[in-house]
Amino acid sequence: MPAVLAVLDALQGRLPLVVPTLAAVLVVFIAQYVLNRTPLVGVPLVGQDLGSDEKRRQTYFANASGLYLEGYKKFKDSVWRIVTSNKFTVIVVPPKYLEELRKLPDDVVSFDDAIAQTMHAKYTELPTGNNLIPHTIKTSLTPSLVRLNPTISDEVDDSIRKEMPPCDDWTSVNINQKLLRIVALVSGRVFIGTELSRSEEYLDAAINYTVELMNARNAVEKVRSWMRPFVAHRLPEVKALRERLAAADRFMRPVVAARQKMSDDEKPNDMLQWIMDGQIKFKQYTTEELARLQLALSFAAIHTTTLTATNVFYSLAAYPHYTSELRDEIRTILAEHNGAFTSAALQAMKKLDSFIKETMRLYPPGEVTFTRKVNKPFQLSNGQLIPAGVLIEVPAGAISRDPEVFEKPDEFDPWRFSRMREQARAKGEVEVAAQNQFVSVNPGVMTFGWGRHACPGRFFAANEIKMIVANFILSYDMRLPEGVTERYPNIVFGTQNIPDPTKELLFKRAA
Ligand SMILES: *[C@@H]1O[C@H](CO)[C@@H](O)[C@H](O)[C@H]1NC(C)=O
Ligand SMILES: *[C@@H]1O[C@H](CO)[C@@H](O)[C@H](O)[C@H]1NC(C)=O
Repeated sequence: MPAVLAVLDALQGRLPLVVPTLAAVLVVFIAQYVLNRTPLVGVPLVGQDLGSDEKRRQTYFANASGLYLEGYKKFKDSVWRIVTSNKFTVIVVPPKYLEELRKLPDDVVSFDDAIAQTMHAKYTELPTGNNLIPHTIKTSLTPSLVRLNPTISDEVDDSIRKEMPPCDDWTSVNINQKLLRIVALVSGRVFIGTELSRSEEYLDAAINYTVELMNARNAVEKVRSWMRPFVAHRLPEVKALRERLAAADRFMRPVVAARQKMSDDEKPNDMLQWIMDGQIKFKQYTTEELARLQLALSFAAIHTTTLTATNVFYSLAAYPHYTSELRDEIRTILAEHNGAFTSAALQAMKKLDSFIKETMRLYPPGEVTFTRKVNKPFQLSNGQLIPAGVLIEVPAGAISRDPEVFEKPDEFDPWRFSRMREQARAKGEVEVAAQNQFVSVNPGVMTFGWGRHACPGRFFAANEIKMIVANFILSYDMRLPEGVTERYPNIVFGTQNIPDPTKELLFKRAA
């Protein structure tokens, strides 16, 4: 008791000091709280008239592209807010600021933290913040493409022959399913070598990992955020993903062990080897981590490439009158290059390139790009302060459908980009011509993202897609089934837009 009294006594004496200190602390707290919020107070919200966040959330899920288009038109050059399907408020930055965004350093806006947050990496164990893979792609894979093209072309030939039925007469084929395996085989040959890439175990892992990862991510997303630390690990979808990771580790282990014993001239030329050789510079990885990196690589590569190619096939079948023009181009150019899909030959197939880019303009896999977590507040040139802690993004889909960016933007105009390239070249604008290629990262079509973290694998992916599509165009006639008169509509949920994986096309071996 006396002790308590003494403390009280002491406090009493100091009260005049304690109170202002407390008050000061409180003021700082409130100021921080208010400052953290106020930068966004004046920022308009799209879908305000929908009434509640719950309504906005539902509309986002059902018709995100409509909401983005609305905000894009209404708010023009100012920053605006959107409530996403998981109730995050995301700050949408209009295209006027693309150049500024590109220059922001990684410690201000983080690509990895955005992925970690949106993919729930804490529970799905998606490796993020790993520089080795993009580094290896940039320094080893892309520069090797000229040399790798014959290998890629070989595997494309071989896998199409293995996966496709004879098609002597019109044959119905679920092309998305076939493409998943073709892309997994072709990518696998370059990622890990034929020893593993042609095994069913690897193919199953490479293809299903992405599905299981997305299932686990969606399951975690449904759990309220404060409950996640307690229940997320026990969700069946998360457990299935864990089993997949453990299985990948088991079959990778002997392969990695064998590679470690190889002399330099025995070492194969593939991503796994480049990663193993490059890791010394970054850090030494365990086989478990290497297995995960391989899976992350297939996550980044297989489904994205497949959905791009499937979109192209759906366009080809819906507009069959363009096929003969493409076939003529491919034949002519191959004849000029000894029948080989060299880098120069692929580069010269401008109509094929344009057809693919136009398909991706109209059917972008994501409505937004440049999703970044803001870790340090920054200011746009119009004075708008963007506080730390929010996600920002760019409305790529709305830009691609803007009549001020593209003439008749809702029309499928397959030679739009080859025409733009020719016109630019005629005027001597070499740079503009280059910008309108499929692999180019330009503000009109941001299929591969924007800025420093634009997809580093796009050069490999573009070659792979072109070789697959060209191979089919030379070997098969394609069309929609009887009674189907329009291109299969894509499936749209939230910001995602995918070709319907359940649909079939008719194929017949070309005469
Ligand atoms: C989506 O939103 C846009 C713009 O608000 C609207 O024009 C369109 O009809 C909507 N589509 C659907 C399917 O609701
Ligand atoms: C992987 O996916 C395929 C096709 O969707 C399915 O048939 C197969 O059972 C899956 N494998 C596993 C282990 O889930």
